[in-house]
Amino acid sequence: MTAGEPAGQKFSASKFVSREYTSMAGGLRIKVNERLWPVASSPDTPLLYVLSNELHLQGPRFGCGLGQCGSCSVLVDGVETRSCVTLVGSLESKSVTTLEGLPAWRIESQGSYQRI
Ligand code: FES
Repeated sequence: MTAGEPAGQKFSASKFVSREYTSMAGGLRIKVNERLWPVASSPDTPLLYVLSNELHLQGPRFGCGLGQCGSCSVLVDGVETRSCVTLVGSLESKSVTTLEGLPAWRIESQGSYQRI
């Protein structure tokens, strides 16, 4: 117990330093569909959440969340990978391709994706 801490309470604010803050300070970036993107989420966030919530890509879909159904599949350095069980922090030097990045898709001038 430290000075000023109520007796019997074991809470210590220093144990709860935000990993999101440290991620932002570290400047995690991932390459998706040939573009480098800054990531605000912590490195232990599943890639699927970053693709959906930060990059607003709709190709990878949430299905089982367990790496079994394949609806969240992307290519990581050309290898099929389940983005729901892949941590974004493990992809810093790799290239991710979603459905939107495949040749049958193109980028509209407004930044949204549309199938040709
Ligand atoms: S959501 Fe089913 S494998 Fe990822």
